[in-house]
Amino acid sequence: MDNNVEKDIESVLLTQEQIRQKVSEMVRRIDTDYRGKELVMIAVLKGSVLFLADLVRGFKRPLEFDFIGVSSYEGGKVSTGVVRLDKEIAIDIKGKNVLVVDDILDTGRTLGFVKHYLQKFEPKEIKICVLVNKEVNRAIDVDADYWGFKIPDVFIVGYGMDFENNYRHLPYIGILKR
Ligand code: IMP
Ligand code: MG
Repeated sequence: MDNNVEKDIESVLLTQEQIRQKVSEMVRRIDTDYRGKELVMIAVLKGSVLFLADLVRGFKRPLEFDFIGVSSYEGGKVSTGVVRLDKEIAIDIKGKNVLVVDDILDTGRTLGFVKHYLQKFEPKEIKICVLVNKEVNRAIDVDADYWGFKIPDVFIVGYGMDFENNYRHLPYIGILKR
């Protein structure tokens, strides 16, 4: 068994250093905007975990985070775009300023679903923070309030993002060999 997944990577799109710099810029923007406000981050499993872990370590201010689990329901070969809830949030967000954190905003179906689900709990506001923004594929009217990189329609892995549940652990973002 070959035990180095890097052989499957065609090229590196975003290096560890580029990601590190971008994450600290995002921390500064968020820190400024949320001055004097409570901050509750709700991160979307599993793609957001590396991003969330780096993001939260940039803050000195108080903040709370929790996770929501969702997956896209696959009907046959083509994704139907139906999103299913796998894990509910476990904290009270009523009247709070919620920042949803995810790896990537693509069609918008996932974050559209998450936003709709969270609205039931009557938070004060819901904003969206993603590391990567693939605007070209948007099918739902959702926008990111904070985004790190805009990229064209390429399939990426690493830094939380997977292909068939592998490659999430890569510390950089790469394009897979076909
Ligand atoms: P959306 O619901 O189409 O906006 O897609 C969001 C989800 O699709 C992300 O949370 C990812 O799990 C997945 N996704 C979209 N594009 C990519 C990609 O290029 N690589 C890996 N996962 C992706
Ligand atoms: Mg995901």
